[in-house]
This record gives sequence, C-alpha cells and structure tokens, in this order.
Amino acid sequence: TGKVAFIAGVADTTGYGWAIARELANAGATIVVGTWPPVLKMFNMALKKKATDEAKKLDDGSLMEIAKIYPLDAMFDVPEDVPDDVKSNKRYAGVEGYTIEECVEAVKKDYGQVDILVHSLANGPEVTKPLLETSRKGYLAASSASAYSLVSMVQRFGPIMPKGGAVISLSYVAAVRTIPGYGGGMSSAKVRSTHPHLEFKHAPAFCVDSHLLRPKAQLESDTRTLAYEAGRKYGIRVNTISAGPLKSRAASAIGGDGEKTFIERAIDYSVDNAPLDQPLYAEDVGRTALCLLTDLTSAVTGMTMYVDMGLHSMGQSL
Ligand code: NAI
Repeated sequence: TGKVAFIAGVADTTGYGWAIARELANAGATIVVGTWPPVLKMFNMALKKKATDEAKKLDDGSLMEIAKIYPLDAMFDVPEDVPDDVKSNKRYAGVEGYTIEECVEAVKKDYGQVDILVHSLANGPEVTKPLLETSRKGYLAASSASAYSLVSMVQRFGPIMPKGGAVISLSYVAAVRTIPGYGGGMSSAKVRSTHPHLEFKHAPAFCVDSHLLRPKAQLESDTRTLAYEAGRKYGIRVNTISAGPLKSRAASAIGGDGEKTFIERAIDYSVDNAPLDQPLYAEDVGRTALCLLTDLTSAVTGMTMYVDMGLHSMGQSL
C-alpha cells in the first residue's frame, strides 16, 4: 500500500503485464505503466471503453486506475539512440520522450521514486524465423529489446528505487531447455497478425520463436548478476518469473498450422503433461509476481521462479 509500481509492457488486458498490474492495484499500489508508442493510442482508446471494465475490476468491486501511461520504447536508452526512420515513422508521430532515460526522468519528476519495477516485454524483428535462419541483426535486435532493456531499466530506475524495492521480469522455460516444435517448426508457420497496428518491422514477439529464447537465457543470467550488483548498490531485489504458456495478444499473433495455433498447442501440452493439469491463467502469474514484489519475499533475490503448473520439472511427456 502506498507504493508506486512501474510496469513496462502493458498494451491490453490479456497479457502478463496487465495481470501483474491488477494484483498490485488490488494490494493498494499506485500503478503507472510504460507502453510501446505504436500501440499507445489503441491502448488509451481501449481503456476508455466499457468492455475493459471487467478486466479492471478489483476484489472490492472498484476499477483499477492506471495513474499514468508513459510512452516507452525499450530499444532506446537515450534520445541520440533513436534513428531517423523511427522518429519520422507515423506510428511515433506526436509521441515524445519514449527512450528509457527520458521515461525514467518523467517518472522521477511525477512520483519521486518507484518501489516496484516490472519488465513484461519482448520483441524481435525476425519473429518468424528459426534460429538457423536468424540474421545477426535480428538476433541482436531481439536481445536489445528483450534482454538488454532490463539491464538498462535497472541501471536507470535503480537510483530512484528505495532500499527494499523489487524488480521482476518475465522469462520462459525455453531459456534453459530445448522445446521441440518451437523454433524450427516455426519456419513454415504463417504469422497472421491479429494486431492491427503491427504489420510493422517489429512483429509482435513471443517466446516460442527460437531466436527470442536467447534473450530469455540472457534475462535469467542477468537476473542473477543484477541481483548482486543492484542488491549491493541500492538494496533492491531482482527476480524473474518463468511463466507457462498464456494466450496473450503477442502469443496469439503467432500463427499455426491449421486447426490450432502454436500457443494453443503449448497450452494443451501443459494441461496434458504438467504436474498440475489445469490451464495457467495470467492471474496465477500476477499473484506470484505480487508475492515476489512484497516483503513476503524480502530475502529472495536472483531467482528464476517457475509459474507453470510445474511443467518445467518434467523430463518426459506421458
Ligand atoms: P503482451 O503482448 O501482453 O506483452 C508484450 C508487450 O511488449 C506488448 O505490450 C508490446 O507492446 C511490448 N513491446 C514490444 N516491443 C517493445 C519495445 N521495443 N518497447 C516497449 N514495449 C515493447 O504479451 P505477454 O505474452 O504477456 O508478454 C509479456 C512477457 O511475458 C514477455 O516478456 C514474454 O516473453 C513473457 N512470456 C510470455 C509467455 C506466454 O505464453 N505468453 C510465456 C512466458 C513468458
């Protein structure tokens, strides 16, 4: 209660970022979010519609308020990093101050400090390609958006986080285990973008695409190093949640081969094979995130916490 939480990577009500925001709001935190400029307008419009009221509903019946939405493009640290083709892109028209440094400055000006930082974003321009066909540029862009962005945010938010503050990000089990059918099998998959604004250079990214798995491995490794460095320097904790499959907007945008999309297959696989044979809901991840972000876990840092109905622990399917 009374804490300020900044959540990077919220643009609709279906993803993990939203579910985490809702749990934090329920617990009394002030919610501020960072949203990718190309989807900012759409998100603002959706929030005004009655249709989102259900998703906003808190346990006491009131509706979650997002105190402020900052434009944020996690590909860029400082204004000099923004290339001309992005500046002049019509999807960025009228939006300013979206680099990580400018965003942190704006949050600092408005709130002074941030107690909680959530990184819930990933992206990669070569989302449709298997690793064997991924270019250096595509690989590095995925790492930049999905993994370095956490390092940059902890660097810049760290100084405005009080001792005892907490950071989490979202990872995926494919960071540490090969998931057959993911990646290589993606080469023939058609990406049917369900996202009207995203037939853009940066396709909506999801962890099933193989080159995005490298960023998740980086994210987990960086979580340990950041936990040490930011722990010593600022007294804050850094953990990551390795989440099971969720049919988020980003995940749904990956196509499939006929009957089912990849994400639907991943969900069915989990229900068929995980120790707990129930579908995973975004709220499951939201509640664990809340726990990791409160003093209930004040001695926990540098951890990868699986929230996946236990699927990660299986060595063989039935
Ligand atoms: P989502 O679509 O709710 O979240 C992804 C967000 O990243 C979107 O809001 C998008 O606008 C934003 N984004 C993309 N590029 C950006 C950039 N350059 N700067 C700022 N924001 C940017 O989808 P989801 O699935 O909830 O993803 C959240 C996190 O959870 C991601 O890190 C994802 O890899 C991870 N995750 C998702 C799983 C799933 O099955 N959906 C499983 C395990 C992890």
